Amino acid sequence: MAALRPLLFLTSALTFLEAIICVVWAQTSPQTIYDDLRAILSSRSEVVLTEDPTYTRDFTPRYNTAGEPTYIVGVKPALVTDVQRVLTYAVGSNISFLATGGGHGYSSSLGRMEGGINVDLDMFSTVQVDSDARTMTVGGAARADQVATALQAAGMEIPVPQCPCVGFSGATLGGGIGPYSGLYGPISDSLLSVEMVTGDGRLLNVSQTQHQDLFYAVKGAGFNYGVATSLTYRIYPATNGGQTMNADMMFSGSLNGSVWELAKQFAATQPKELSIGFSVRYSSEPTLNGIIITANFIYAGTQDAGVALIQPFLDLQPLYLNISTVMWKNIPAVANNGAILTVGCKPGVYYVPYGLNLYQIDVQNLISVVNYMDDAMTTKPTLRRASVVWQQYASYGFNLQAKDSSAFPHRDTVAFLQVGGVAVDATQGPALNKFGRETRDLLQRGNGEHELGVFVHFAHGDEVPAAFYSSAKLPALETLKEAYDPSGLFSWYNPVVSRDREC
Ligand SMILES: Cc1cc2nc3c(=O)[nH]c(=O)nc-3n(C[C@H](O)[C@H](O)[C@H](O)COP(=O)(O)OP(=O)(O)OC[C@H]3O[C@@H](n4cnc5c(N)ncnc54)[C@H](O)[C@@H]3O)c2cc1C
Ligand SMILES: *[C@@H]1O[C@H](CO)[C@@H](O)[C@H](O)[C@H]1NC(C)=O
Ligand SMILES: *[C@@H]1O[C@H](CO)[C@@H](O)[C@H](O)[C@H]1NC(C)=O
Ligand SMILES: *[C@@H]1O[C@H](CO)[C@@H](O)[C@H](O)[C@H]1NC(C)=O
Ligand SMILES: *[C@@H]1O[C@H](CO)[C@@H](O)[C@H](O)[C@H]1NC(C)=O
Repeated sequence: MAALRPLLFLTSALTFLEAIICVVWAQTSPQTIYDDLRAILSSRSEVVLTEDPTYTRDFTPRYNTAGEPTYIVGVKPALVTDVQRVLTYAVGSNISFLATGGGHGYSSSLGRMEGGINVDLDMFSTVQVDSDARTMTVGGAARADQVATALQAAGMEIPVPQCPCVGFSGATLGGGIGPYSGLYGPISDSLLSVEMVTGDGRLLNVSQTQHQDLFYAVKGAGFNYGVATSLTYRIYPATNGGQTMNADMMFSGSLNGSVWELAKQFAATQPKELSIGFSVRYSSEPTLNGIIITANFIYAGTQDAGVALIQPFLDLQPLYLNISTVMWKNIPAVANNGAILTVGCKPGVYYVPYGLNLYQIDVQNLISVVNYMDDAMTTKPTLRRASVVWQQYASYGFNLQAKDSSAFPHRDTVAFLQVGGVAVDATQGPALNKFGRETRDLLQRGNGEHELGVFVHFAHGDEVPAAFYSSAKLPALETLKEAYDPSGLFSWYNPVVSRDREC
């Protein structure tokens, strides 16, 4: 009955003796934890043992099941004070816990959480727009599509992630990027204040005037310091009347060199209203049968102006073309033929993610990556489920705020890349992992001397913290960790300081 589990994790860095000291056997039974939490939380809060079928039915599912965290109890706090109480209880009982927003975080680092308490923020999911004040306040678990829908109705906008189902707060706490980042930068640049429970148990309002040091950290590394229950943002009047051009194209892999040349040209002068996406993958369609590149262009302006802008890509005579004007909120439903809506909103996939930033476009190197992919995918059908996905936003938005204005370190990124593969099941994991690592390594060669950098939400989880936060910003973030999360409770997701090392 008693759950016996090691609370801290062994690493090769530890001596045997240290390892013994480190292992703390928590002996609180699941039922006791349930009873304790039920007793201290407000009546509207939910507490459910994960073995109870209600848990699977009621709690936010995880998008990625590869190396997902495991829990013994799920809690849905109703009040901010409930969040504080779970935290205090978990600390007192030596039980680890993790907040869940939209459940879309896919880093393998999350798998280090075993047998903890899932603090599902489902009851914090409202979106309130004040168009007069040009502000929006969202709960810690509000989704990207809720935000887009509410803002479109109010004639306003903000950058939202491409996937409508991701937690908007979760995305923000790591910076957050989307098509309109070319206009306004990472989502975190639009944050005005955050109400959060920090690792030392305090409930704080964090902004430019209150706990400014933590505000800096929250904008790009927020999940390292506490649970954000409510976030307030600056919002903007809709560009082009809330309408946007969406253009989808497809090119044969043989044109990859020309596509990269154009990507490079565009990167130098990309208008802030334009965002460019590519997906390099394998098509088994008989007429294609090999590497293809799909391209997506989103332009916050008239269709005529947008088409004129992307004419060089049209001149390559795409095998497929679809250009239309849509409401801004509908981008996920139409871009790439709606692939993001279809693929990104169906949780429970076995996803093997890698990623990295490109700081320049090295055409020759990209050609060699495409040729490597062609070779690997031709010989190994399993790998045909993998792809390289590319987001290229205008630098304008990223340069609106100073480099040292927040923890977000990726302002000089030319393209945000995801190297990912959805496996049919876990048996395909090793091959997709090998492919992911190799492709990442090959792509990184094109970055010259630049250290490996990866947008924290696109990371695999095996990178060093400097890759997520940059070696320049890391020391300050470590110091803030001591101030706001001295026990390292918030160290499960691409952490600033890994909990493993603290033991
Ligand atoms: C298909 C897909 C497409 C994506 N596209 C984009 C994109 O275009 N742009 C982009 O920026 N990102 C994108 N992402 C990444 C996404 O931003 C991250 O996965 C992010 O972590 C999602 O937040 P979540 O709340 O859904 O995840 P969760 O798994 O619930 O949370 C991830 C981590 O953040 C923490 N967290 C979440 N909410 C809070 C909170 N309120 N307070 C404190 N900690 C919290 C959790 O504890 C966990 O450690 C995409 C992800 C997927 C799966
Ligand atoms: C929790 O673990 C610490 C060591 O990390 C130990 O000193 C303490 O006694 C434990 N507390 C409980 C309640 O088990
Ligand atoms: C945070 O600010 C809000 C709005 O001003 C206020 O209602 C709340 O009491 C504040 N909370 C704390 C902990 O200061
Ligand atoms: C990629 O482009 C290069 C340069 O044009 C070409 O030689 C190569 O065959 C292309 N790769 C594939 C897989 O088509
Ligand atoms: C083109 O895109 C629109 C959405 O913008 C969609 O309704 C339509 O079905 C697409 N056409 C084709 C041929 O895929």
